[in-house]
Amino acid sequence: MSSYQTLDVGRDGPVLHIRLNRPDVRNAFNGALVEELQLAFREADQDAEARVVVLSGNGKSFSAGADLAWMQQQAALSPEDNERGAERMARMFLSIARCRKPVVGRMHGHALGGGTGLTAAVDMAFCSEDCVFGLTEVKLGIVPAVISPYVMQKIGAGRARTLFLTGERFDGKEAMRIGLVHKAVPEGELDGVVQKAVGELLSAGPLAVASAKELIRAVAPLTLEEAIPMTSKWIAALRATPEAREGMGAFLDKRKANWVR
Ligand code: COA
Repeated sequence: MSSYQTLDVGRDGPVLHIRLNRPDVRNAFNGALVEELQLAFREADQDAEARVVVLSGNGKSFSAGADLAWMQQQAALSPEDNERGAERMARMFLSIARCRKPVVGRMHGHALGGGTGLTAAVDMAFCSEDCVFGLTEVKLGIVPAVISPYVMQKIGAGRARTLFLTGERFDGKEAMRIGLVHKAVPEGELDGVVQKAVGELLSAGPLAVASAKELIRAVAPLTLEEAIPMTSKWIAALRATPEAREGMGAFLDKRKANWVR
């Protein structure tokens, strides 16, 4: 595992914890954090031991989004370099969304701008009820551009029209109501709900979980008719894998599958 300057990465058995670690600036992300987060997710993808990734933030807040001093520096570069830096940031979000391991988010304090974007990019997010979210970019004269596909996939274009245009802040309960997070709970219960979700993921077949993630990506743009050839091939292939033989066999034999600890 690489050593990181802006992340705190550690493993607890099959669970890889990636914690944003610039607490003095509320885990705002600069160029170094963008590079490192992408690298950490690439490593998670390749890590044969890791079955679940938990993304969280050290200190008072999950993340205050892009580091505004860094954003200003980027804006002062040549147009080509400015664009390249923005693309690197966009690819960081993609590395999370496309990670073959399930990614669980744990959000507390603030998750603003890109922090809301990271919440949207993970597979399932859990937050404290008082966590403050917001697509605040317009308040700063910018827009939530590279995070827009992730946020819109979670909350829909209709809600995005209000939240992108006003930049208003909202709490964890509202984030749950609009589907940005899976569950909002009092902060004292946050680790418990994250752990429960991790437990559910660990009791599922690892290849099946990766395949389910890929299935959602592949099926989302299709009509019901278009989906038939793809989805029938998909289940035909999956039910013939050794993992499926073990999973279904374990149920029929009334025992635990061999991946359940
Ligand atoms: N970029 C750069 N620095 C940031 C930052 C950001 N996005 N967010 C916070 N910081 C810095 C502050 O400038 C401050 O630095 P200082 O100690 O040198 O003064 C430090 O982090 C702590 O922030 P502060 O505002 O004092 O902490 P707080 O706990 O009272 O408030 C926030 C935290 C996140 C609510 C507040 O900092 C904030 O609103 N940040 C901007 C969030 C935002 O709109 N992000 C969208 C970016 S596109």
